[in-house]
Amino acid sequence: MKYRRMKDAPKTLIAGLAATILVLGLALTILAIGLGSSSKERESLRFRVNALDGSKDKCVRCHRDVTPGIIEQYGHSSMALAGVTCRDCHETAPDYPGAIAHEGSHILSEPSSARCARCHAQETAQFNQSRHGLPAYVAYAGTKKLSPELLATYENIPEGGYRPEKMRSALFAKEGEEVARFACRSCHDVGRPAPDGSVGNCSKCHLRHEFSLEQARKPETCNACHIGPDHPQWEIYQESYHGIAYMTGGHRWHWEVEPGRLGVKDFPAPTCAICHMSGFGASGTSHDVGDRLAWYLFAPISERRPSWQDNRARMQNVCRECHNERFVNDFYAGADAATERINAWVREGNAVVEPLQEGGLLTAEPFDEPIDFVLFELWHHWGRTAKFGVWMQGPDYTQWHGAYEMLSELAELRQMAKEKLAERDRKRAETKKDGSS
Ligand code: HEC
Ligand code: HEC
Ligand code: HEC
Ligand code: HEC
Ligand code: HEC
Ligand code: HEC
Ligand code: HEC
Ligand code: HEC
Repeated sequence: MKYRRMKDAPKTLIAGLAATILVLGLALTILAIGLGSSSKERESLRFRVNALDGSKDKCVRCHRDVTPGIIEQYGHSSMALAGVTCRDCHETAPDYPGAIAHEGSHILSEPSSARCARCHAQETAQFNQSRHGLPAYVAYAGTKKLSPELLATYENIPEGGYRPEKMRSALFAKEGEEVARFACRSCHDVGRPAPDGSVGNCSKCHLRHEFSLEQARKPETCNACHIGPDHPQWEIYQESYHGIAYMTGGHRWHWEVEPGRLGVKDFPAPTCAICHMSGFGASGTSHDVGDRLAWYLFAPISERRPSWQDNRARMQNVCRECHNERFVNDFYAGADAATERINAWVREGNAVVEPLQEGGLLTAEPFDEPIDFVLFELWHHWGRTAKFGVWMQGPDYTQWHGAYEMLSELAELRQMAKEKLAERDRKRAETKKDGSS
């Protein structure tokens, strides 16, 4: 859906206007019409005025006592200012999947993305084409529980079906539901199907009930999931010059500018969202976070994505708003070469283990003996960290939490393989001796 926002205006005007509006109690009407005022003004008003103050709506009146936090948060959102009500997201027909009877009406306790799609069709469609959709869910749950319709949707996501290894589903099964609820699922349920068959939990990034652009655009939003030894994008960002610019000057950036109209005046350095999602320079806003990626970096051995040249061009368009073409091309050439180098180390690790696999010296069960963990960590922790460090400028992660750990794990792997082979030879020699004596 298309809606209007207000253009910039000086601060004095904002304060003056705000006060007048408050006194006259006309804030909501004027804001809803949105004529002749600014996004900053809208912003300052939003924080001062609760759009739900004085509301006679039944839901609001009762929930002011029942869940005051929700009324406080939602009242200050731009959606509430635009007149979107509790009912628009929560109220539903009695026979709708997941509906519960509530105060003479029927509601969904967790409105699904199908509700958002009524007004935000484009964002929802892009999200559904991305790996934040069904692929995130399939990553731990597999495809077994998907309905035929959802399976078809999943299979039609262009970069969605790529699943080079399934070892971690075994971890999910081994650790059990009690733990998984707070572990795998906490992050991967961003793409879980709802009872009505729609996919995705938008509130993993748009924390209820504020729906604030500032919050969604800040890198802390992504660090709910993009953190830790296997995908330390948050830590890497903090170490990068981009992250340093954010942490030292971010309080002056223009966090609430209308999507699609951001520029270097608003953001002198990028956050995660600017590089991966926001409209910036020649690249349009997208909820498909794969849209600008050239490699499958999460894979043990990284390959190019199907439409990698177009994707790369979209990412480079963002870089070029701040860096020149030679700088960007030189950076990409270097990062491509580093990616290949890291691939080579993972291949080397696989080659060390191959004779053990072929000789039946490893159990078929994943994650039941130390060597399984060493091989896994070689690519899953350190290999990926090294690659992410390269691409998002975290030298400490590329070096000491990446390349160095890989070399150390490779040495350990070789030693473990040597011992297993020696043990096999010793056993063979013993059986031979037993047989001949
Ligand atoms: C007369 C009071 C009252 C009215 C009117 C009312 N609610 Fe509630 N609502 C409650 C109470 C009480 C709870 C339970 C709170 C709890 O469990 O702590 C609740 C819970 C909810 C929940 C959470 C349900 C769950 O399963 O987690 C939602 C969502 C909700 N209300 C939305 C609405 C909407 C939308 C309306 C208007 C159509 C509405 N409420 C009208 C009192 C009310
Ligand atoms: C733009 C959509 C939207 C609007 C408008 C909205 N909600 Fe919600 N609400 C949600 C979503 C999504 C969730 C579930 C989020 C989750 O569980 O992750 C939710 C959850 C809730 C819950 C249950 C969770 C909890 O923390 O108790 C209550 C109660 C609730 N909403 C009340 C309200 C009331 C009252 C209003 C109106 C003042 C309202 N909501 C307006 C989207 C909305
Ligand atoms: C009934 C229509 C409607 C529904 C349903 C709806 N929205 Fe909105 N949403 C709007 C409108 C209108 C705006 C524009 C507010 C503005 O910018 O003034 C908006 C704005 C937003 C924004 C941008 C906020 C900003 O400050 O610019 C986000 C994020 C958002 N919606 C998320 C959601 C999510 C997530 C859901 C589902 C849980 C949802 N919306 C459901 C109508 C809706
Ligand atoms: C802290 C949040 C978090 C937890 C907990 C987590 N993951 Fe992930 N997982 C991610 C993120 C983020 C990525 C994406 C990394 C990338 O694209 O570079 C990912 C990637 C993956 C992938 C590779 C992508 C794919 O679809 O093949 C698999 C498989 C996976 N996770 C499975 C699991 C399983 C199984 C568990 C539990 C044992 C788990 N994850 C726990 C956040 C998490
Ligand atoms: C609730 C957890 C969660 C949050 C919050 C989250 N992500 Fe993700 N993200 C994931 C998971 C899980 C995957 C891996 C999905 C897969 O490949 O199976 C992923 C994958 C990605 C990918 C790789 C997509 C691809 O095609 O391989 C990018 C880029 C990404 N996320 C960016 C972001 C950005 C930017 C933010 C913040 C604005 C963010 N994510 C917030 C969980 C999350
Ligand atoms: C990975 C985090 C993430 C998830 C998940 C996510 N969003 Fe967003 N969303 C963002 C960010 C970041 C922005 C701001 C983009 C920008 O900077 O222009 C945004 C902006 C929006 C806007 C305002 C766009 C505009 O042009 O005014 C809407 C509406 C919206 N999201 C709806 C949704 C809906 C609906 C879903 C679920 C289907 C969803 N989002 C899921 C991160 C997310
Ligand atoms: C300066 C721009 C920039 C910033 C800032 C940035 N990234 Fe990235 N990111 C990239 C580039 C470039 C790649 C590699 C692109 C490729 O594959 O061609 C990448 C790769 C990724 C991947 C790996 C996807 C895969 O294939 O496995 C994830 C996940 C990701 N970024 C998430 C994040 C998160 C989360 C943040 C913030 C904490 C962030 N990024 C900050 C530019 C950025
Ligand atoms: C909004 C502006 C902006 C965007 C977009 C941007 N950068 Fe930067 N970049 C900066 C700033 C500011 C610095 C710090 C400059 C300095 O060192 O003084 C920086 C520094 C860097 C550095 C140097 C780090 C070092 O170790 O010296 C690299 C490499 C880099 N950026 C790559 C990229 C890439 C690749 C992209 C696109 C994926 C990108 N940048 C997008 C603003 C931006």
